[in-house]
Amino acid sequence: MRDAPWNRYPDMHAEGVRSLLSRFLEWPADGIVVAPGSNFLVLALAMAARRVLDTSPSFAFYEGAARVTGTPYRAVRLGPDFGLPVDGLVREMDQGEAGVVFVASPHAPTGAVFPVPDVERVAEAARRRGWLLAIDEAYCQFSRTDLRPLARANPNVVVLRTFSKAFGLGGVRAGFLLAVPDVAAKVQAMLPPFDVPVHTAAVIETVLESPGRAEEVASGLATERDRVIAGLARHPTWRPHPSQANFFLVRTPDAEAAWRSLLARGILVRRQDHLPGLEGCLRVSVGTPRENDAFLAAAFEAGAEVGAGR
Ligand SMILES: Cc1ncc(COP(=O)(O)O)c(C=O)c1O
Repeated sequence: MRDAPWNRYPDMHAEGVRSLLSRFLEWPADGIVVAPGSNFLVLALAMAARRVLDTSPSFAFYEGAARVTGTPYRAVRLGPDFGLPVDGLVREMDQGEAGVVFVASPHAPTGAVFPVPDVERVAEAARRRGWLLAIDEAYCQFSRTDLRPLARANPNVVVLRTFSKAFGLGGVRAGFLLAVPDVAAKVQAMLPPFDVPVHTAAVIETVLESPGRAEEVASGLATERDRVIAGLARHPTWRPHPSQANFFLVRTPDAEAAWRSLLARGILVRRQDHLPGLEGCLRVSVGTPRENDAFLAAAFEAGAEVGAGR
C-alpha cells in the first residue's frame, strides 16, 4: 500500500485483482467483474433487469436493490425445511418479462444449502426463458460447496462471491461476479469506472497471495458452528436449525424475550421473527470459541428464565 500510486486513479476495472482471481478460480479474466462489495453487483444486476425474482425470506438487499432501481419485484416462499421453491420460481418466470432471479446458497438467513439438482432446474428454466440466475455464494467456504460448474455450463448463470465473509474483510469492500464474458461486460457497463480503490485492490492482491487461508478460517468456524448447534440440542425450549453458513437460526418460544435476555447478558443477536416462516427465530453469528461459550451459557440461562415465566 505504501508503494501504491495514491495520486493516480486505480485500474479502470481492477485488472490486477481480476488476473489473480482468474488464476485462483480458473475463470477467464474477461468473465470476472470486481466491485466494492457484492452488494454493488446485486444493484447492477437489478438495474439491468426488467424484473427481480427472489425467495422469501431472503437476503434483504435483493429486494432493496429492486426498490432503489424501480425494478418490479416478486418473491416466492421457501418450501418445507427451507427448501428451494423450484416450481414456484419457474411459475413466476412464466409471468411476463424476463429478469434476474437471486438464489443464495448457502441461503441467508436460513443457512441452508440447496441440493444441486434443484438449483440446476432453476438454471435450466432460466436458460429456456432468457432469465439470468444469480447464484450468491457469499458463504460457500463455510459449506464447502461450489456452484461454479453451473455457471460454466450455462451462460444464463452468474456466480457472486465476496471477500466480506470467509476472508474476514467486510471493511475492505470487495466482491466479484463470475460469468461468461458477454454477460460480464454488460454487468461491468452498469458500474462506474474506477470503482475499486487503490487500497482495496492492494489488500485483495495481498490476500490472494495465500488464497487457501479463507478455507482454513472457514473450516475452523464451521467446526465451532456445529459445536454450538449441537450444544443447543439439550436446550429445553430453543431449537436450532441446521446451517452451513457462519450463522444459524434458533427458534425460541418468544423471540423478543429471548433477544432481551441475551442482550442483558452482553450477547447481541439478530431478531428474524418478522420474516415469513421464521416466527420466534433469532439469527446467531458464530464467533470465537469464548464468545460461543458465552452465548451457550446465556442461552441456557435465558431459556430457564423464559420457561419460568420471567
Ligand atoms: C447473501 C449475501 N450476499 C451478499 C452480501 C453482501 O456482501 P458484500 O459485503 O460483498 O457487499 C451479504 C452480506 O451480508 C450476504 O449475506
